[in-house]
Amino acid sequence: MTTPIEETLVIVKPDGVARNLTGEILRRIEAKGYSLVDIRLVQADREILAKHYAEHEGKPFYEPLVEFMQSGPVVAMRVAGNRVIEGIRSLSGATDPTTAAPGTIRGDFGRDWGLRVQQNLIHGSDSPESAERELDLWFT
Ligand code: TYD
Ligand code: MG
Repeated sequence: MTTPIEETLVIVKPDGVARNLTGEILRRIEAKGYSLVDIRLVQADREILAKHYAEHEGKPFYEPLVEFMQSGPVVAMRVAGNRVIEGIRSLSGATDPTTAAPGTIRGDFGRDWGLRVQQNLIHGSDSPESAERELDLWFT
């Protein structure tokens, strides 16, 4: 039985773009064997971010997160590969960069910026349903 090739949405967040880590993040994704299908540099507005982060609306970190995501350009990527959704989450590491394991993107490059957990460099879709929804949102 063959597994269908999945696609996922990866976003290099404003901190990753500002720190010139876009290439390093893409290098790790490609080194793992995943394929870049589409890529765009975007200045995200509140409208797209409200849809993107709809599941988090009302949580204490929601407003700072949506503000932060508008603080500079992001790089949105459509990435394909076998079990790529899970694979990107694994490459990214835990949400909090302080506890993210060394060897992961967040573990190697994320830092403790005080309360700003949202500055964790990368977004990756968390399920096939999220991936489909988010890819439609960022690549229409
Ligand atoms: P979440 O979807 O839980 O994490 P992930 O990006 O690992 O899928 O949360 C979305 C983003 O919100 C997360 O990348 C950083 C930010 N965030 C906070 O700032 N504080 C928090 O306590 C949590 C859970 C997330
Ligand atoms: Mg998430």
